[in-house]
Amino acid sequence: MRIGVLTGGGDCPGLNAVIRAVVHRSIKAYGWSVIGYRHGWRGLLQSEVEELDLKAVSGILPRGGTILGTSRTNPYQEPGGESRIRQELAGRGVDVLIVVGGEDTLGVAVKLHQAGVRLVGVPKTIDNDVNGTDYTFGFDTALSIATEAIDRLHTTAESHDRVIVVEVMGRHAGWIALEAGVAGGADMILIPEYPVSLDEVCDAIRRRHDRGKNFSIIVVAEGAQLHDVGGTPVQVQSERRDAFGHVRLGGIGATLADRIEQRTGFESRYSVLGHIQRGGTPSAFDRFLATRFGVAAVDLARREGFGRMVAVRGMKIVDVPIDEAVGSLKTVGREFYELAQVFFR
Ligand code: F6P
Repeated sequence: MRIGVLTGGGDCPGLNAVIRAVVHRSIKAYGWSVIGYRHGWRGLLQSEVEELDLKAVSGILPRGGTILGTSRTNPYQEPGGESRIRQELAGRGVDVLIVVGGEDTLGVAVKLHQAGVRLVGVPKTIDNDVNGTDYTFGFDTALSIATEAIDRLHTTAESHDRVIVVEVMGRHAGWIALEAGVAGGADMILIPEYPVSLDEVCDAIRRRHDRGKNFSIIVVAEGAQLHDVGGTPVQVQSERRDAFGHVRLGGIGATLADRIEQRTGFESRYSVLGHIQRGGTPSAFDRFLATRFGVAAVDLARREGFGRMVAVRGMKIVDVPIDEAVGSLKTVGREFYELAQVFFR
């Protein structure tokens, strides 16, 4: 048997741990060979491949990013994309493709599976918003980075009697903002799922000041909405869309800091964590989860569980139909938001 593996969409810490686990499991347990496609779906369209043996994956476990590279190429936006992929796989003798990606990459996998391609999925994203799995690897690392940043910003905010707004990633789901905000003791958390008004944010800050606190930390997800700031959504940095239709986000932190200062008179600053959250070495949790996913994906291929995706539920690794994971996003539930709200008052 010959396995193909690709990593697509935004990178995240732990991708190399999956690739390494796929290679070890395939070769050692089943005597299969593995090739890696470079730059996600683009590698399949352009036949960019490399042989992955034990030597090729040696030393990659703690490395961030992906040794295969990634892209946001959507083969369904390319002429003859689907048939070119089928030809590529047949030409190289690939029996099963292991697709490591988030909602967009796995969405393509669903369509290819329906067209008869034998594949299995592995969910990844720092946003932790893939349905069907309790966690995606990458999230834990991003959460630690964001929490550490909030801790650091706390001490400078306190020294200067300032409001500091921390902008974190999270386009449609506010998991990083919510969990890092709670873990870092933020005074207000803004996430896409629960829009608030600028008045509410300013009132929360004023209440703190009335209690004798002269500084505040506000955590905002890049995709959060302020419902009393009209016009173009403030967080759209560029209207240019990627192949999956996403605009580039960024800027809500700056706007928020500016409006808070104008309305409350409290000196404000902002900090955008951006891709720092996605880069660098994975946490032990992410390495372990990614390794379990990689091994489980090969075993799923062996069981011919095509069109399915590995997932974690509680402590257990399970598998679910990929289309269960891509129909809608796993957003922050009310009980989590209510937990955070305990500290806004
Ligand atoms: O990986 C998902 C994500 O982190 C989103 O939260 C964010 O909007 C997006 O990636 C930005 O990625 P890029 O700059 O690579 O387009």
